[in-house]
Amino acid sequence: MKIKKICCIGAGYVGGPTMAVIAQKCPDVYVTVVDINETRIKAWNDEDLNNLPVYEPGLDKVVAEARGRNLRFCTNVEGAIQEADMIFISVNTPTKTYGEGKGQAADLKWIELCARQIAAAAESDKIVVEKSTLPVRTAEAIRDILENTGNGTKFQILSNPEFLAEGTAIEDLMAPDRVLIGGDTSTEEGLEAMEALVEIYNSWVPREKILTTNVWSSELSKLTANAFLAQRVSSINALSELCENTEANINEVSRAIGTDSRIGNKFLKASVGFGGSCFQKDILNLVYICRTYGLKDVADYWEQVIKMNDHQKGRFAKNIIKSLYNTVSGKKIAFLGWAFKKDTNDTRESAAIYVADHLLSEDAKITVFDPKVREEQMYADIDYLNTRNKVDNRKLMKSEPCPYEACKGAHAIAVLTEWDEFVDYDWQKIYDNMLKPAQVFDGRSILDKEKLKDIGFRVYTIGTA
Ligand code: NAD
Ligand code: UDX
Repeated sequence: MKIKKICCIGAGYVGGPTMAVIAQKCPDVYVTVVDINETRIKAWNDEDLNNLPVYEPGLDKVVAEARGRNLRFCTNVEGAIQEADMIFISVNTPTKTYGEGKGQAADLKWIELCARQIAAAAESDKIVVEKSTLPVRTAEAIRDILENTGNGTKFQILSNPEFLAEGTAIEDLMAPDRVLIGGDTSTEEGLEAMEALVEIYNSWVPREKILTTNVWSSELSKLTANAFLAQRVSSINALSELCENTEANINEVSRAIGTDSRIGNKFLKASVGFGGSCFQKDILNLVYICRTYGLKDVADYWEQVIKMNDHQKGRFAKNIIKSLYNTVSGKKIAFLGWAFKKDTNDTRESAAIYVADHLLSEDAKITVFDPKVREEQMYADIDYLNTRNKVDNRKLMKSEPCPYEACKGAHAIAVLTEWDEFVDYDWQKIYDNMLKPAQVFDGRSILDKEKLKDIGFRVYTIGTA
């Protein structure tokens, strides 16, 4: 079966870049990305590629090549479903904020809505692909909805989780370590549907990197991959605290263990804590699933990864307060970075938000500089926590478009994101304009500690004494 038309529901951080790359690599496949968010779709169609709603290095070039040729962004969900042979569901699956499973389970209401929309609109057989990260066995619920609310057309459901990381999305999509496709391996129609998706990816991904499994293994592999990655960060962060107490250096420890080929050197960078829309949400979901199956010890094991991450963010904030003579009230603290990692404008679950919230509760005055995050987003993030009212948040915190201005007159600087440009700043100039003793809290271990100390700074680097 040859796929001619693809529809993707959800034009977010995953749907947008993923479909742009499919369209670029498969010029004979017509790809329509739909979203109910009109502003987002408008931004995807903006002539000025600097205004795309997602910032990813290289994305602008891919969109420029495919948009208007075989890539389209629009809000006509129904029409796009009708004409497609294959429909990707790439909508948000955040942690539930209400009812049963509040704070842990994935909220699947947008997934269910998509399934109902597909069932209602479809007038011919479709392959439905789960691109969103979902709890294991969600395909069962999707099948039930499609079969019971549809117009008698047939559906094949595939799971094709996305492993891209933000900031390197285009690189990851162009040359993935693997592509995972789960489907109904027990029927001919199921195998045929899997092959149709394999063929799409095989336009640029070598066949041996495309793994096929049953649906449940594919669904669970996504949660497992994120749990393993986050666990490595929490493990190294746990040891960073021990390093600070023993004169061992976490960067040296990382290098020493990372050269063991069984351990590997990736995801061993100590930090102020992991953020991003996936790690916390997916582990909480894993914990919830384990609990629903009565697997208490398994759930407790994975929950510890989140507890350690919360501890790391909290102790970074507490350390700033302690070093500033146990009070930050009325003191200016400059934040370098608000995004959850470099090279993205995404701030979801960023450690910076939680560190800021902790310090604002101590009446600190925070000035934030981030090369890609807008002030409205910073306020939206801090308001969302509901710790204090909006007026107070705006009184205590502001964004500053110039890093040197952000640091001027500050008692301390906290590095929350590892943007490359921070390393090359004129640190002498920054020092000269700060209150003394000038302190730097490097939550990403990117700055040259010795150089800063020579200038006169007091420097705290995560994981070093
Ligand atoms: P996002 O919030 O950026 O985008 C989701 C989009 O879906 C939104 O624009 C929303 O308006 C739209 N939407 C929701 N319901 C809709 C409907 N019924 N019809 C049309 N549009 C609808 O989310 P994201 O970061 O792209 O993540 C999407 C999924 O991919 C999630 O399950 C996430 O866990 C998973 N994922 C994310 C990443 C990542 O790096 N962000 C990586 C891998 C997997
Ligand atoms: C993650 C997964 O890597 C990706 O495969 C999945 O599809 C989505 O979730 P993402 O959250 O975009 O991707 O970025 P990632 O590079 O994994 O970083 C997550 C967080 O961990 C960031 O806050 C990052 O700064 C932090 N991190 C990562 C560390 O603190 N140390 C590390 O060594 C690696």
